[in-house]
Amino acid sequence: MVKMKILSNKLKKHIDEKITLSGWVYNSRRSGKIGFLTFRDGFGIVQCIVAKNDVGEEKFELFKSLTQESSIVLHGKPVLNNRAPGGVELITEDIEILNLSKDYPISPKEHGTDFLMNNRHLWLRSKKQFAILKVRHQIVKSIRDFFDSNDFTLVDSPILTPNSAEGTSTLFSTEYFDKMAYLAQTGQLYGEASAMAFGRHYNFGPCFRAEKSKTRRHLTEFWMVEPEIAFCDIYENMDWAEKLLIYVVKNVLENRIEELEILERDVSTLFDLIKGSFPRISYTDCIDILKKNNFDIEWGQDFGAKEDTFISNQYKLPVIVYGWPKDIKAFYMKRDPNDENLVLSMDILAPEGYGEIVGGSERETDIDNLVSRIKSEKLNQDDYKWYLDLRKYGSVPHSGFGMGLERVVAWICGISHIRETIPFARTMTRITP
Ligand code: 4AD
Ligand code: MG
Repeated sequence: MVKMKILSNKLKKHIDEKITLSGWVYNSRRSGKIGFLTFRDGFGIVQCIVAKNDVGEEKFELFKSLTQESSIVLHGKPVLNNRAPGGVELITEDIEILNLSKDYPISPKEHGTDFLMNNRHLWLRSKKQFAILKVRHQIVKSIRDFFDSNDFTLVDSPILTPNSAEGTSTLFSTEYFDKMAYLAQTGQLYGEASAMAFGRHYNFGPCFRAEKSKTRRHLTEFWMVEPEIAFCDIYENMDWAEKLLIYVVKNVLENRIEELEILERDVSTLFDLIKGSFPRISYTDCIDILKKNNFDIEWGQDFGAKEDTFISNQYKLPVIVYGWPKDIKAFYMKRDPNDENLVLSMDILAPEGYGEIVGGSERETDIDNLVSRIKSEKLNQDDYKWYLDLRKYGSVPHSGFGMGLERVVAWICGISHIRETIPFARTMTRITP
């Protein structure tokens, strides 16, 4: 008996051979002396035929006792069947029960999302959730592949930090011996140090923000990938972000189309965007468009979800919005040399109303401008001493951006709420399971 996993191309190589599969009951039904078992093993799902004549009376009774999510070992032979999902089914010869599951709470009927989120530790086994996390895995892998193959070095940034980087209103604080420390909102400032050592840097890890907003797009713990590039201006920065997104989407379409089908994702917009470049539009032009369409917004104000959606709906592609007012952006962004009210920054808005997926900028290299921004944001200058060192010892033009993993997963999968795109979501109202 060969121990196998349900990977359809592998099962197909063992037609009519005796194999063993270990996994869980997804579903089962019976018609007289024949049982049908939908069986999953974490790698795939296969349909199994359990005939009384093949397994004997005793094992057929055992089959009848199987409940949803019982863990079992199956012995049998794969056979080709065009009508079975994956083109293969298992003719069962023997069944062993490892654990008979009792009253599994998630049945095939509809449940409310809150109930499912409370049972997230089990909900992960369901088809759609499984598909979302498979796509997430693919996105992570493709992001790493993209940077690795473009000579970026992965340099991890710390999570416990002494200061803020993205404003003080969303900081999580924790006691740190006799001091206070904060959970990183971004790895960027450390990324800038690394870019001066490695030329092309990226960090990829969890970020924390005490977001007091209960929106479909905000988590308090989320993952961000952040490249930081020496000798790179804001325009090249936009090119990198565009290339990354195209690479990721293409890679998912090449490798996870089955999962996107399970999620009933209309992939036509994804296929369109991998063909070319993204529209680029200035913040000021966006304000004009919004005003002409009766939005109650003035120059200088940030966009909310409605504004993001309206702008992105003008195009069927991700949109790069550049040239933002300095007062609504972070202290480290480079002042526009042609307009002191602007910074050289960019956001990318995903199509179909999925909101901001990328935020980035060219970084301020003028130490006096930086110090004055640190002061006006009422940050403690001593905490940024090391950061200012980077402008003293071989400072160079540099840029970078952060891409929020969960927002990208939500958009690519076509999932309306970000909470299903991370294994165990943390939001303002949830820290369990
Ligand atoms: O625009 P943000 O705040 O940019 C930064 O943190 C920069 N330091 C990045 C850089 O230049 N290295 O965040 C970047 C992205 C957003 O566009 C969004 O996709 C995601 O991170 N993001 C969140 N995702 C989920 N929940 C939240 N609360 C998020 N906040 C930001
Ligand atoms: Mg942003």
